Amino acid sequence: MQEPLNVGLLGGGTVGNGVAKILLEHPERMILRAGRPIVLQKVVVRDPSKPRSHIPASLIETNPYRVIEDPNIPVIVELVGGTTDAKNYVLAALAAGKHVVTANKALLAEHGVEIFEAARKANRAIGFEASVCGGIPIINLLSQCLSANQITAIQGILNGTCNFILTTMSEEGRPYAEMLARAQELGYAEANPTLDVDGSDAAHKLAVLAQIAFGVSVPFHEIERVGIDTLHPMDLRFAYELGYTIKLLAEGWLDGNEVALHVAPVLLRKTDMLAQVRGVYNAIQVIGDAVGEMMFQGAGAGALPTASAVISDIVDLAVGRAQKTFAVNKFWSATPKKYQLRPSNKVRSRFYLRVLVRDEPGMLADVARTLANDRISIASIIQHEALEEHQGQVVPLVIMTHYAETGQFRHALSKINELPGVVPPGVSYSVDD
Ligand SMILES: NC(=O)c1ccc[n+]([C@@H]2O[C@H](COP(=O)([O-])OP(=O)(O)OC[C@H]3O[C@@H](n4cnc5c(N)ncnc54)[C@H](OP(=O)(O)O)[C@@H]3O)[C@@H](O)[C@H]2O)c1
Repeated sequence: MQEPLNVGLLGGGTVGNGVAKILLEHPERMILRAGRPIVLQKVVVRDPSKPRSHIPASLIETNPYRVIEDPNIPVIVELVGGTTDAKNYVLAALAAGKHVVTANKALLAEHGVEIFEAARKANRAIGFEASVCGGIPIINLLSQCLSANQITAIQGILNGTCNFILTTMSEEGRPYAEMLARAQELGYAEANPTLDVDGSDAAHKLAVLAQIAFGVSVPFHEIERVGIDTLHPMDLRFAYELGYTIKLLAEGWLDGNEVALHVAPVLLRKTDMLAQVRGVYNAIQVIGDAVGEMMFQGAGAGALPTASAVISDIVDLAVGRAQKTFAVNKFWSATPKKYQLRPSNKVRSRFYLRVLVRDEPGMLADVARTLANDRISIASIIQHEALEEHQGQVVPLVIMTHYAETGQFRHALSKINELPGVVPPGVSYSVDD
């Protein structure tokens, strides 16, 4: 048997505990899969007095550089999170000649070019399977198992917290704030859930996927994102009446020499496979030009599902696979861009529009005329009964449009918001048929 592979963890929180649990409870499994023992040497934390369910006190260390620079530890696993200390640790580990495994999508989305350049310079590999979709091995699938294909589209539910909130809002008709509080009680949402609910977390993951699937390094801030924090239960209800469910989707697709990327709540037909993904699950649909359409579903977060992905990267390093594939896959490299990012205003879609108008004659005609002025044609209109919360003075108009450019639609919406009798702002979402 080959000599053991020693591993140092930076971070002994949710994921770090999961990694420690599997490595310490199943050493025989590691030998079977890696052909050699994988030995957890140290776990770096900030507060050594915190109780940790699966990390023995003897392994706890508070100085990250003592682990990073330990000549007996060739693999550093970054599970600290954030983009400041984590970046410094990863760059220091590469400079010290260590391979790196990370679950940190924010770090890759925002500093991927610098980090991968440093890895190539140091002739070391970076594993990042756990950075997207937790337990679903989507990085490996896209970069290795589907290597015969040009991926042409990806569409995913990449944030379990948002999917839980949307599922419960739509099934129970309860408001966003209440369902967010429930997600926090159940441990599905952070105390500060901003990055999840404003779409940033899904956009970080989409930036990573865009790199693997399409070979594009899109600056993170250029990926347009809309979260679920402003979603009203009435829109989930109206969408449902029309045969749709609303999901927070991260979408990317190729069209000619452009790639479109965005994160937003989208109306999906109830029969769509993604529409049926409930609760904290993640799911991702992929289209490859050889394989066609595929869908993968599973736990997108949590200690053990994420540890499962982290350990697959460690095993790949132990076997020597990761070093070989890393050298071939030039992820986040400075090669000329093959695809340009399509400006969001140029993306074509159907739209759901809900606008509150005073209960007066002619309002429907005014809204329809404003859409027509921007050459947007209407597929259907529903006018609901007056809303109690507006003392019966205001009615919701729900309009489904035919395909239009987003820029055209946004212009029309801004004009609708200015119409006398409209209670702004009108609310709109893309419709995916
Ligand atoms: N949680 C998930 O389900 C999940 C899923 C996929 C990916 N990820 C990613 O995995 C990473 C870790 O997430 P997590 O949920 O495990 O985080 P976490 O529970 O907050 O754990 C972070 C750990 O890092 C330690 N730490 C924080 N800042 C540090 C610093 N500056 N120097 C040294 N140690 C530091 C903390 O020490 P103390 O314990 O002493 O505070 C803690 O042990 C993140 O990048 C996250 O995005 C998480």
